[in-house]
Amino acid sequence: MNTIKLIHVGLGRWGFDWAQHIYPGSNDVEAVAYVDKEPEALGRAQAKLGASPSKCFPTLSDAIAATDAEAVVIALPLPLHAAVVREALLAGKHVLIEKPFTQTLEEARSLVGIAEKSARVLMVSQNYRFFAAPQAAHQFVRDAWFGQLHTVQVDFRLNAVAEGYGDRHQALPNPLLADMAVHHFDLMRMVLGEDPAELSCRAWIPRGSPYQMPPCAVIVLTFPSGIVVNYRGSWVDQAPKTPWAGRWQMDFDQGSLFWTARGDRPLVNAQDRMSIRRLNSEPESLDLEPVLKYDRLGVLHAFAVAIRSGIPPSFFPSGRDNISTLSIVEAAISSSSLGGASVKIETVH
Ligand SMILES: NC(=O)c1ccc[n+]([C@@H]2O[C@H](COP(=O)([O-])OP(=O)(O)OC[C@H]3O[C@@H](n4cnc5c(N)ncnc54)[C@H](O)[C@@H]3O)[C@@H](O)[C@H]2O)c1
Repeated sequence: MNTIKLIHVGLGRWGFDWAQHIYPGSNDVEAVAYVDKEPEALGRAQAKLGASPSKCFPTLSDAIAATDAEAVVIALPLPLHAAVVREALLAGKHVLIEKPFTQTLEEARSLVGIAEKSARVLMVSQNYRFFAAPQAAHQFVRDAWFGQLHTVQVDFRLNAVAEGYGDRHQALPNPLLADMAVHHFDLMRMVLGEDPAELSCRAWIPRGSPYQMPPCAVIVLTFPSGIVVNYRGSWVDQAPKTPWAGRWQMDFDQGSLFWTARGDRPLVNAQDRMSIRRLNSEPESLDLEPVLKYDRLGVLHAFAVAIRSGIPPSFFPSGRDNISTLSIVEAAISSSSLGGASVKIETVH
C-alpha cells in the first residue's frame, strides 16, 4: 500500500506528540507539511524534529497550495475543528480530526454531508478503539460467550490536580463530559454494539475544586436491548487512578467480564487486561491477542486502508458514526443542566 502523504495541522501539546512519536513509527503515512499559526511551534518542529522550513506553513491553505498531500490530520482546539475540517474537505482532502469531532451536532452533520458528497474519508481519532481489550470485549458480547449482557459498570478516575494538569485543563469547557468521557461513550457503543436510548447524568464541581466546569459525573445509560451502564468519571478522584479507558465490569447471564485498557506512555498498550468470572467461581485472567497497530498507529492504519481500499476496516470511527458518540455527550450535558433528568438520545441526535 502506498503511503498517504498528509498535512498535519496543530503543533500544540498533543499535535506535536503526533509529529514526534506517531508519524515516525507509521509506514502508512508520511507528513509532508506541518501547519501552526505560531512561529514558535513551527520553529520547535524544525529544531526538535528536523522538519525542513520548506515543509512548515502558518496556514492550511498555504500548505495545500505548496504540496500534493492527499490527506489532512487536524489536532487543534475544539472550537476550530469544524472550520478547518470544512476547509480541508472542500480542498478535496481526506480528513482525520482529533476528538471531540465538533462542538455541535449541526456542525458534525454538515461536515459528514460534505465528505459523503465528495467521496472523501472523514474519520475521528477515537484512538481508544484500537486496543486489544475493548476489541476482545466487543467479540465477547457479540458471540454471547456468557449469554446475554445485562449490566455494565465503568469507572474512570485520575487526580489531575495532584498530577499538575494546571489552569488550562481546569478552564476546559466540560472537561469530563466533552473532553474525556467522549472516549468512554464511544467505547460503550463499540463494545456493546448498540447505541443508548436514554440517560440521566449528574455532574458537579466538588467544593474547593479549581475546575470551572464539572470534573465529576455519574451517568446511568439504558440501551434498547435492556442493558444498563453505570458510568462514574472523575478528574479529581483521590483513589488510585484507572487506565485511560477506565475499568469495566460487564455482567452477563452466566458470568462477568472485567477489562481495562490504554495505560500511560511509553507503553500505552501494556496495561490492557482482561479476566472472567463464571457464576460462583474464582476469577481467571485471559490472554489478549495483541493488536499490532494500536492506539494512534491503529487510527492511521485504518485511515490509510479506508482511503486506499474505499472500505472502512473494523471499528472504523467515521464522522457519520461519531455523530452517535457526540449525541451521548450532548445528552449528558443536557441532562446535567436539568439536574439529572432523563434525556432520550433521539431528542438531541
Ligand atoms: N485522543 C486523545 O487521547 C487526545 C489527547 C489529548 C488531546 N487530544 C485532542 O487534540 C486536540 C488538540 O489538543 P492540544 O492539547 O494539542 O491543543 P493545544 O492548544 O495545545 O494546541 C493547539 C495548537 O494549534 C495551534 N493553532 C491554533 N489556531 C490555529 C490555526 N487557526 N491554524 C493553525 N494552528 C493553530 C496553536 O498555536 C497550538 O500550537 C484537541 O481536540 C484535543 O481534544 C486528544
